[in-house]
Order: sequence, then C-alpha cells, then structure tokens
Amino acid sequence: MPARLCLRLIVKRIFEHRIISLSTMSTTPTSNPTCNVDLGGMRIKYKDKSETFTEDQLQFKEPIGQFKIWFDAACNLPTIQEPNAMIVATATRDGIPSARPVLLKGFSTEGFKFYTNYESRKGRELADNPNAALVFHWEPMRRTVRIEGRVEKTSQEDSDIYFSTRPFPSQIGAHASKQSAPIAGRETLMIKEREFLAQFSEGKVPRPPCWGGFIVIPKCVEFWQGQSDRLHDRIRFRRPQPNEKINNILVHQGDDGWVYERLSP
Ligand SMILES: Cc1cc2nc3c(=O)[nH]c(=O)nc-3n(C[C@H](O)[C@H](O)[C@H](O)COP(=O)(O)O)c2cc1C
Repeated sequence: MPARLCLRLIVKRIFEHRIISLSTMSTTPTSNPTCNVDLGGMRIKYKDKSETFTEDQLQFKEPIGQFKIWFDAACNLPTIQEPNAMIVATATRDGIPSARPVLLKGFSTEGFKFYTNYESRKGRELADNPNAALVFHWEPMRRTVRIEGRVEKTSQEDSDIYFSTRPFPSQIGAHASKQSAPIAGRETLMIKEREFLAQFSEGKVPRPPCWGGFIVIPKCVEFWQGQSDRLHDRIRFRRPQPNEKINNILVHQGDDGWVYERLSP
C-alpha cells in the first residue's frame, strides 16, 4: 500500500476512534440505544513463561508475610501510585453484592484494616452481613491479591487514633458528609463543610461516632500472577477444614495454621 494512503487510513482510524470515545464520554445524559462497543481485541501482555510464580518462590508459608512481600514490591514501583487501594465487596443479608474502592490503612496477623462511615451503604451491609472480600489489583506487576473473611469493627480507641492522624479537611469532611445518603447538590456539602469549619478548629476535631475502622479477618488469601497465555499462577492460603488430611500433593501444610494449594487459572 502506498505510504500516503496508509497514512490517510491511520488518520481516519484515529478520527473514528475519537468520535467513538467522545460520544461515549458525552456529558449530557442521553439514551443511546445504538451504542454497542466491541472490546474483543482489547488486551495487553502479561508475564511470559520465564516469569512464573511457583510454590518455591513463596517467601512465607503463611499469607500475611507473603502479602507484605508483594505489597512492598508494589510500593517500590513508581507506576503504582496507590498500592494500598483495594476493592471491598460486601453483601446484604440476602446476598445482593456491592463493591467500591477504599484504602487499606494497616495489616497484621490480625487482619486488614480500613476506615469509613459505619452508616454508609458498606457500613450498613457489614452490620447485617459481616463478611467481605478484598481485591488488590497491581496492574503493572500483573498481580492480584484476593482476601475473604469475617469483618469486625476496630476498637473506638483505634478509630480515634487513626482519625486524629487524618488531614484537617478530611476530618471536617467526615462530619460534613452523611456518606451514601442522597443530597440535592454539591452546595449542600459546602454548607455543611462551612458549618463544621466554624464549629471545630484544627487539631481539635472529634471523631464522629459513626466513623471508624473495620478489620477483615482473613479466611483465605489468594496470590494471582497473570500470564499472557492465560495459564495464570494462583496460590491460595486457607484455613483447613476440621479433620482435613493434608496430602502435600493438592494441599500443602503452611505455617501458623494455614494450608495452601494451587488453583487452576
Ligand atoms: C482510591 C479510592 C480510595 C477510597 N478510600 C476510601 C476509604 O478509605 N474509605 C471510604 O469510606 N471511602 C473511600 N473511597 C470512596 C469509596 O469508594 C465510596 O465512594 C464510599 O466509601 C461510599 O461507598 P458506599 O456507598 O458503597 O458505602 C475511596 C475511593 C477511591 C477511588
């Protein structure tokens, strides 16, 4: 194909792509029954066979130490700006799920902590059904960690300590926002913010009683690493079933009461 024709085709493609992007990004809400975007060809490369994740690479035979190894690696990668961002999935008593990003604010052998409004949608769902799933997706590393477990509120003292370390505007925001409740417009928030700015001075903002920490006590933790051919690596730690036989073929004995196993991708 002549070079000029080739160039014209490329420009045409870019132009068409822009039109599609702009039409899907439209700011006026319209119904668009003709919008039908095929993403079948959208994919990137993951790891190749020279970079697999195998059992001998586990630096810990329990999930918290291993999580720290992967978390530290994510923290050291400049392309990951918020390595502590995770998705928290909760569900109603009837099992209707919902999910949203939050920030992990600490982890230990006791569990994984985040802070929020107890009267938010997630807070209410956790009060009714104290089970959650967490997902970290560190895209540049082609790694994901999935955690599932029971959830408890952290102590009031723990919530007070963390609240006191938050920046002043975030402390005011926690008072101003009835998280997850519908409001008439942004101005409603600004009015509330001004109200609390007049009431509290910097360094003296009390923690709202409805705001605090949750800790997810893990029952299972899966370490996933993606391969381009989709034969991904998945190593899951879990607590053994009562009287479960650990055969060291499918299920391996870990440390601190954990077992681990490889899952099919
Ligand atoms: C990267 C990121 C981090 C967030 N961290 C928190 C957080 O730590 N706590 C929180 O309550 N909301 C956080 N949010 C906002 C939540 O995603 C969500 O909008 C809010 O908690 C209300 O969720 P809910 O209505 O399902 O309860 C974060 C959002 C993003 C994008």
